[in-house]
Amino acid sequence: MFVVAALLVLLRGQGVSVGDMAIVASSVTALGTLAQLVVWGSGVAQIAQFVGDLDAPLVPSSAEAPRSTSPTRIEAVEVESATFTYRGRTAPAVDHASGRFAGTGMIVLTGPNGAGKSTLAKLVAGALQPDAGTVRWRRGDGSCGEPHWQEVSVLHQDEALLPLPVRDFVRMGVEASDPEILAALRRTGLGALIDTVPDLLDRRVGESYTQGAAFSGGQFQRLCLARLLLQDRPMWVLDEPTSAIDVAGDADFVALLRETGADRFVVVITHKDLGVEDGDEVWRVEDGRPERLLPPVGAAAPGA
Ligand SMILES: Nc1ncnc2c1ncn2[C@@H]1O[C@H](COP(=O)(O)OP(=O)(O)OP(=O)(O)O)[C@@H](O)[C@H]1O
Ligand SMILES: [Mg+2]
Repeated sequence: MFVVAALLVLLRGQGVSVGDMAIVASSVTALGTLAQLVVWGSGVAQIAQFVGDLDAPLVPSSAEAPRSTSPTRIEAVEVESATFTYRGRTAPAVDHASGRFAGTGMIVLTGPNGAGKSTLAKLVAGALQPDAGTVRWRRGDGSCGEPHWQEVSVLHQDEALLPLPVRDFVRMGVEASDPEILAALRRTGLGALIDTVPDLLDRRVGESYTQGAAFSGGQFQRLCLARLLLQDRPMWVLDEPTSAIDVAGDADFVALLRETGADRFVVVITHKDLGVEDGDEVWRVEDGRPERLLPPVGAAAPGA
């Protein structure tokens, strides 16, 4: 396990992209360390992909527990003057950010490119630690502590099309039977695809499932959401989850997100208008600092 992680760090140091590293990892998987790597893939690879520059802890102290490690709901994330500067940069990506994120619906982060949305989400998720300031998770049982990224599932805008069968791609380190995987896929709106491609679980992600037809971008994002459903972790971070989904599909996807994310702390980074509802919080991030747009400052926050 450690050797594989070290190999991937080495490759990353050589400028190999995270997507290519994932392919290396899955190739090694095929050589006989399937179980270990799939578990590894559910933690380190996912967070590495999220972090991008691998600044986050690389090797988890424990590689197990891919499903929710704590049933205790995360009620709020309290950020206090958090600052983070990427290695090699002088300007902070997140600069004295403060806020209590506590929506009972979705936490929506919006704002211009480079404003610090993804970095702030990484701090909220515990994938990065602030250089200064604090990030604390407040739980339903009243406790308050450090973020615990093993409890976070991420749907990244640039999810790698791993050369794995759909079955392994979706369950990624989670014990799940075919009926469970198919049920998750149906919940994400891929029922029609399952009905037309009976051996869908055996088809490789990124390769054609019928002659000349591959997963569309929107179908792929739904596939990734099915993985989050199976992982069943208390926090979801979705970075532009509907970027490849059409307008009609948008509403379905958000409805699905509301339904499936109802018991979780859900952070959505988006440039789209996803249809804000009661309980949602919308934050605009600019120059590395979040400002709450909805509910308007002065009105009580939904989770306060
Ligand atoms: N891995 C990295 N290494 C160095 N600098 C980075 C890294 N990731 C982001 N940055 C820088 O940090 C700042 C904030 O980036 P971030 O990705 O958080 O912005 P964003 O709001 O998510 O942008 P976008 O809408 O384009 O996704 C930018 O100046 C960016 O160049
Ligand atoms: Mg971003």
